[in-house]
Parts: sequence; structure tokens; C-alpha cells
Amino acid sequence: MSEASEDFTNRVAVVTGGSRGIGAGIAVTLARAGARVVVCGRDQAALAKVVGMITQAGGVAHAATGDVTREDDVRALRDEAERVYGPVSLLAACAGGGGELKPLAEETLEHWRTTLDANLTSAFLTLRTFLPAMLQARRGAIVTMSSSAGRQLSGASAPYTAAKAGLQSLTRQVAAEAAPYGVRVNAIAPSAIITDRLAAAPESVRDQIAMGFPLRRLGTVSDVAEAAMFLLGDRSDWITGVTLDVAGGRVML
Ligand SMILES: NC(=O)c1ccc[n+]([C@@H]2O[C@H](COP(=O)([O-])OP(=O)(O)OC[C@H]3O[C@@H](n4cnc5c(N)ncnc54)[C@H](OP(=O)(O)O)[C@@H]3O)[C@@H](O)[C@H]2O)c1
Repeated sequence: MSEASEDFTNRVAVVTGGSRGIGAGIAVTLARAGARVVVCGRDQAALAKVVGMITQAGGVAHAATGDVTREDDVRALRDEAERVYGPVSLLAACAGGGGELKPLAEETLEHWRTTLDANLTSAFLTLRTFLPAMLQARRGAIVTMSSSAGRQLSGASAPYTAAKAGLQSLTRQVAAEAAPYGVRVNAIAPSAIITDRLAAAPESVRDQIAMGFPLRRLGTVSDVAEAAMFLLGDRSDWITGVTLDVAGGRVML
């Protein structure tokens, strides 16, 4: 019989997009399971809040401020994580976010570039920076944070859907490269998770969105964190290159 929950003690985890929402939830859950967690984002105060929450609960965490669309910041993040806690074997690349929905003719090049940078280039830089040490150690698990918007038709913007679909492809490509070293890379594709944006919507709107899901509710940060824990842990040791839909039954591929 396997244990009820996996123990991540002595593992070092880095979570980008760890200052809020889904990333913060994954960081807290990893720390609860014993991992030493480095949380990264640009908002120092928000990072300090997450670290405070983890340490108050008896966990171990460190805040690393950085913009993951910048190569130097990502390298600095890796160096800081290794200096503070040692070799990193768990990575959750969650940084990103949606953009305003516009008809394509009204899309600006600037919005296209910033959205691709935040959601796709950030993951490329993060994976490229953290992967070599994992391959050398022959140990590691990575999750990227895609979206159901990159999976099938959605109401999201063109750059966001393109970035999230690209991220699934990047994840598969890196998974194939890393597999012979025993390092696994998987994507999660959430849909309608209650983080700041949805939490701010009126209850009637949220209820209406929820009714569009076969499971008749919105997703929670905990729904995504549990999926991430599975994909980062040894229980998914035979799973790599997949995109796991955490989407209340709305995406069935
Ligand atoms: N919530 C949903 O329904 C949903 C659905 C599908 C996919 N997703 C994806 O899941 C991820 C998290 O979503 P969320 O709802 O938790 O979003 P959120 O609450 O807006 O948080 C976004 C996180 O990404 C970080 N971030 C964004 N750009 C960054 C950059 N350039 N450098 C460093 N950090 C950056 C933010 O940190 P700072 O502000 O501190 O920089 C923040 O921690 C995103 O990739 C999003 O696209 C969310």
C-alpha cells in the first residue's frame, strides 16, 4: 500500500509565478509536503507574504524576486536557489497570465509580444536554465502551466491561446529530450480557476461560468496544486510529455 501523501523532504523546488494564485498554492502545498521551496515573482511584497505563510506553518521557503522573461533574472534565480538550498530537482513554471480579448485586427504587436514573453518565452528560459543540472543529476520533475485555452477553442485572446498551445508543444519537446535521463516534464492545462481575476467577478457571473462545466463548479487552486503534486512526485514516474486537463470535464481529448 502506498502512503496517503508523498513526502518531498530534502527536495528543493522552484516555483515561478509563486507570488500569487496557482503558483503560490503549489508552493504552499510543496512546502507542506516537506520540500524547501524558492518562490519567484516580480512583486516582492506578495512573495514575502507567501514565504510568511509557509514558514508560519512550519515549512521552509525563500523569496527570489525576478522577471522570468529576462534571461539574466532566470539565471540569477537558479544560482540563488542552488546557493540557498542546493540542487533543484522540482520545478513548477507557473508564471504567466491572460490578456485582454480583442478581435485579431485590433491586436497590437506589443500585446502579442508581451503575452508570448510572459507565457511561452518565460517557460523556454526557465526550462533551459534549470534542465542541465537535472539531466546531470539524472533526477528531476518539471510542470509547466498551460491552459485549456491552448487546448481547444476558448474565449481567450489570440496571443494567449497561441502561447499556451506553444507551451504544450515545448513541454513535449523537452520531455522527449529529458526522458532518457529519467527527468520528466509535463504540462497542466487548467480552466477557470478561482484566483484574483475570477474571485473579483460577481457571484452571478461565477455561477454562470460554473454551469458551463460538466462538473458544475469552478476550479480551485487546490485542484491544480494536487495535479502538480502528482506530476512532480514519484507516483507519476511513468508519465512524461502529457498535458493534464484540470478543467472540470470541459476538455476531454
Ligand atoms: N486562473 C486560471 O483560471 C487559469 C487558467 C488557465 C491557466 N492559468 C495559468 O496559470 C498560471 C497562474 O495563473 P493565476 O491565475 O494564478 O495568475 P495570477 O494570479 O495572475 O498570478 C500570475 C503569477 O505569474 C507571475 N508572473 C507573471 N509574469 C511574470 C514575469 N514576467 N516574471 C515573473 N513572474 C511573473 C506573477 O508574479 P508577479 O506579479 O509577482 O510578477 C504571479 O505570481 C498562469 O500561467 C495562467 O496563464 C490560469
